[in-house]
Order: sequence, then structure tokens, then C-alpha cells
Amino acid sequence: MASLGVNIDHIATVRQARRTVEPDPVTYALLAELGGADGITVHLREDRRHIQDRDVELLRQTVRSRLNLEMAATAEMEAIALAIRPDMVTLVPERRQEVTTEGGLNVAAQLQSMQGLVGRLQDGGIGVSLFVDADPAQLEACAASGARWVELHTGGYAEAGWSDQPRQLARLCEGAFVARSLGLRVNAGHGLTYQNVEPVAAIEGMEELNIGHTIVARALAVGLQQAVSEMKALVQNPRREPLFGSSQP
Ligand code: PXP
Repeated sequence: MASLGVNIDHIATVRQARRTVEPDPVTYALLAELGGADGITVHLREDRRHIQDRDVELLRQTVRSRLNLEMAATAEMEAIALAIRPDMVTLVPERRQEVTTEGGLNVAAQLQSMQGLVGRLQDGGIGVSLFVDADPAQLEACAASGARWVELHTGGYAEAGWSDQPRQLARLCEGAFVARSLGLRVNAGHGLTYQNVEPVAAIEGMEELNIGHTIVARALAVGLQQAVSEMKALVQNPRREPLFGSSQP
């Protein structure tokens, strides 16, 4: 059964729209935990567009589940991670102009530097996950980097039209299988919603799904605690039958 990591970046996005003190992601992390979050995820971006350094410092003190820090593989972020010591770091690619994380890491192209960074973070007692596409060559590089987890990029699946979604889902299943065969533990995330999450949650060996935007959007209607608990129910007990494909014209 997969667990649920709740990404609260967009609580901070609302706060930063006015550069004020509310809503405070620290308060909302607690509500997410009360709703059943198994972990809290924040992305400290180089441009600090949503989460701020103070948020990560306070979350380290208040989160009682697991704190997962998403960050770019830079010297600045490495120093922050080693000072704050989240339970997990998920390394992601980052481009200033992007609206959100766009693609997976190219671990194969930077294997040596990844090995160094992964080793230093792990020596600091931090679990390391690498956000990658479900591409066997990248997964092999992840295993060679020494990281113990991968987070499979579900953006392609989430953005696909109904006719391509089964193929994208098969790609994720295959990626999860390859990753596990290489001894890696498997998380996934990006673009998952209440409508599309179940087939991904049902993938054999899926450990954790990291979900943010759709939960924060739903929270506007029902509150964060309820929004998390609704998502948790889907992640823990996904329907097994296909949601799309066979009955379509
Ligand atoms: N996983 C990673 C690596 C991400 O970068 C993001 C977006 O910050 C998510 C999961 C969550 O994506 P979403 O907000 O679309 O649920």
C-alpha cells in the first residue's frame, strides 16, 4: 500500500503573492498530518518563489511525520540540507523560467557529481531520492549513484490524453519494475489528481506518492485536512480496474 506525501508549496505561493505572513505553510503542514499525510514535502527553489528558508527550518522542528526537501543539486542547497537535515532529500532539476519542475534529472549525464552529492547527503543521515523519468538508462544511473530511492516522474502520464494514458501508465509500471530489480525503492509524483491517481497508486511496489497542487486546490473547497484525507483514501485503496481506455470510442 502506497503512502502519501503532501507537497505544501502552494500554501506558500498564496502567502508570497502578498509577501505577508499568512497562510503559513507550517500551520498547514500540521493540518495535512491531521488529515493523514505520511510525509510533508517542500521544494526550496533557488528563486524562493514559494517556500522560504525559515519555513524549512520551522518544519524541521514541527513535522512529526517525515520531512522531504525537494531541491536542486547545487552547493547552496547541499549546505542547507546538511544544516537542516530533513528525513529525505529529493533531487530535482530546476530552471528559473519554469512554472513547475518540468522534466526528470539527467543522472546518467552527471553520474560522478551525483555520486558525490548522494554520498555526502547520506553520510549526513539523509535519505536521498532522485526524480527521474521512467527510463531504464536513467534508473540504472540512479542505482549507480548510490541513492536508495527514485521518484518516477508522472507528468507525462498526467498530461496524456485518454488514448495515450494506458501507454504512459505501462511505462511507469515498467519503470517501477526495473527500479525495484535494481534494488531501488520507488516513489512517484507530479501532476497527480483525484481523477488520475488510482492506477499509479496501484502499481506494484509503489511506496509513496508526492502530491501537491490538486490537494491545495481541493482544500479551497473543503479545507486541507479533509482534502488530504480524501486523497489518502484513494492512495491507500485504489480501484484496480482501468479508469480509461477500453470503454472509450
Ligand atoms: N514531485 C516532484 C519532484 C515535484 O517537483 C512536484 C512539484 O513540486 C511534485 C511531486 C508535486 O506535483 P504536483 O504539485 O503536481 O502534485
